[in-house]
Amino acid sequence: MAEPAPIGVFDSGLGGLSVLREIVAKRPDLSTIYVADSGHCPYGEKSADQIIARAEAITERLLGAGAQLIVVACNTATIAAVEYLRANYSIPFVGMEPAVKPAVAATRTGVIGVLATGAALAGDKLHRLIDRHRGTVRVITQPCPGLVEQVERGDLDGPETRRLLAAYALPLVAAGADVLVLGCTHYPFLRSTLADLVGATVTLLDTGEAVARRVDSLLSPGAAISSAPKSVRHWLTSGDPAQMMSVGSRLWGAPLGAQPLAS
Ligand code: DGL
Repeated sequence: MAEPAPIGVFDSGLGGLSVLREIVAKRPDLSTIYVADSGHCPYGEKSADQIIARAEAITERLLGAGAQLIVVACNTATIAAVEYLRANYSIPFVGMEPAVKPAVAATRTGVIGVLATGAALAGDKLHRLIDRHRGTVRVITQPCPGLVEQVERGDLDGPETRRLLAAYALPLVAAGADVLVLGCTHYPFLRSTLADLVGATVTLLDTGEAVARRVDSLLSPGAAISSAPKSVRHWLTSGDPAQMMSVGSRLWGAPLGAQPLAS
């Protein structure tokens, strides 16, 4: 039997698995192709043009594999490239939007923190989102160099990871933030270490589940994709497949295979 038409999901690396797990939880019937662009990670230190070039190359690969919807499971790539992708391809693209709006609604202190990559904070898009939703709330943005690399290595709670998280998050909490937005898809994998550092009174928000709802809403129940008899998962990486298999399986919570992106 032919494989059901898949959806494509990509990230600069393994962080987008935090989004894929929400999509699979909501729609286990969907076949998926996950692309970890780990050979070009981190995107957070690349220019918008470089990120667009990567997003385009991955999109071409996913279209070649029959993807009929693509999730840009990376805040940085969404900011740099989703408008370009939507303008140049006819399939739907679902991007990430950091949870600024729910964070503004949730704060009791009137201060929130936004943790994101340098490239995400360098673009206008995230600042426009903040300006649209902040109202009277004080929003403190914090670039977090190094965190993506720690997750890519599978170091979720070691001394260096804890040192970086403390350096980035504790000043925000000291400034009164009671909600922290996890504005990068790698960061949900650091949630329990971060929660341990900032304490239970600080709420940590990400948008994986909202993206899963959006994917579901775009795929009508009658579509061939959702009547698929059996879902299939493919895993591709531009980095080292052995590394993806070892760290990715740990993040995913089950063994995953990994093929080179180019083949
Ligand atoms: N997961 C990506 C994001 O959501 C990380 C980007 C990077 O590689 O720096 O922004």
